[in-house]
Amino acid sequence: MAPINIAKPLHISLPISTLDVLDEKLTQGDVISAELAHGNADLIRVLDICGVAGPFKAVTPWEHVDAKGIRRINAGGYSALPFGDRYPPLVEFLTEYLTRDSAQGLPQQAASPWRAALEANLVALLAHVAPSHADSRVFFSNSGAEAIETAIKFARMARPKASKIINFKGAYHGKTYAPLSLTPNAEYQDPFRPLMPGVVTLPYGDIAAFRKAVKRHGAKTIAAVFIEPIQGEAGVIIPPAGYLKELGEICERNGIVVVADEIQTGLGRCGEWFASIADGLEPDIVALAKPLGGGLVASGATIARKEIYAKMLSGMSCKRHSNTFGGNSLTMAIGLKSLELLVEGRLDERSKQMGEVGLAQLVEIAQRYPNLIETVRGQGLLMAIQFQSVVPFKVPFMSELVGEFSGILGLRTLHVHGVQANLSLSSKRVIRLTPALNMPDDVYKRLFQRIEAAAAKNPTGPAMLRNTPISVTAKLSKFAL
Ligand SMILES: Cc1ncc(COP(=O)(O)O)c(C=O)c1O
Repeated sequence: MAPINIAKPLHISLPISTLDVLDEKLTQGDVISAELAHGNADLIRVLDICGVAGPFKAVTPWEHVDAKGIRRINAGGYSALPFGDRYPPLVEFLTEYLTRDSAQGLPQQAASPWRAALEANLVALLAHVAPSHADSRVFFSNSGAEAIETAIKFARMARPKASKIINFKGAYHGKTYAPLSLTPNAEYQDPFRPLMPGVVTLPYGDIAAFRKAVKRHGAKTIAAVFIEPIQGEAGVIIPPAGYLKELGEICERNGIVVVADEIQTGLGRCGEWFASIADGLEPDIVALAKPLGGGLVASGATIARKEIYAKMLSGMSCKRHSNTFGGNSLTMAIGLKSLELLVEGRLDERSKQMGEVGLAQLVEIAQRYPNLIETVRGQGLLMAIQFQSVVPFKVPFMSELVGEFSGILGLRTLHVHGVQANLSLSSKRVIRLTPALNMPDDVYKRLFQRIEAAAAKNPTGPAMLRNTPISVTAKLSKFAL
């Protein structure tokens, strides 16, 4: 073999530079075709067929434009945009952080002022509404799923002899392996079986079923209950009044660890800092993520009572659970500023007031167009529109697909009328609205005017189908079948 010439220069030229992106050299077609070629192609394909693929440019934190210059109100973002896109006070802070601060960026093996500050402030906020959490501790990670993963490990170590974990039908706790085991959705779970053993799935909102299950399985066998105070991906399902409180009391009596998944509902989204606590549940562990990244970075936090934290992370086992990037200074700084903006702006109260106004408008629209909208739900700025089916009769063996089409066409219809919304991962006909908690009043008002206009032009489910160009429905059908 010829000797390897290590002095030979490497002539690799990367196809796209940062300047190409910054200078907006990539056309819409360039972006879509690169995504189709090298990314999650079918996701982009289905969005593109429906004309909702973007890319979009933020013109204000709450509105964006597409390549044709059409301006839309952003009520999407899956609850991860507490202030919209690139909110100037957050961007100004970020610039200041990058230019003025010199704290170590990845302080994995050292104390960090940014992490310390966010730990202290998160616990202070939690203890403000649940004083028994005053000495709780925080573990930072990089996503909601990882915050849940951490909570699963905390719960397992807190009750090592209990092999079972309770979750609920319709729940969404993420899609990495252990959280996926707690996300009972056949489409997401079935290809990956066997999943984590010991998961007992109960109906949500049914306290009698919960009580019975604890009796049947024996409290000693149950390590933890994982619960969303409002099920987001299931389509904004709000449990009956008193349910969470009673569930918490049963768990407390029996020593079962309660994990509140506040990843979607927490930090003001539902009009409260912690929706579970406001409803009378006092969780032992709280998982947070989405808004903690301020709409700029990925973040996750698991807050656990001191005794639970110490069972997993203590003594020489203090690295039993760890990650490389959790707690990095940039994410902590953004989290700290986000929390400051939320608390100082009392965005919890604003979310509650705006939510009441918005839901009342959605109820009126649903009453005017009952053949388009089956029902609406909401708490704070987490709102759901459940569309009627786009097919006015039952299609044997295809109800799932028809439901999926109804949701996608609902999303498309709102998009055509200037509103970006969210699909619901576990409830096909439900579109969610998650506007920023600081959305200005005039933009918020226009949001509902546009929804009303969309309904007026599409007064029934089937009308949404009729008003969709044949080319779109043909491509969608071909794609789905
Ligand atoms: C309640 C809840 N838990 C967990 C997750 C998972 O978070 P991530 O997508 O950041 O992994 C989500 C995401 O939608 C969620 O809504």
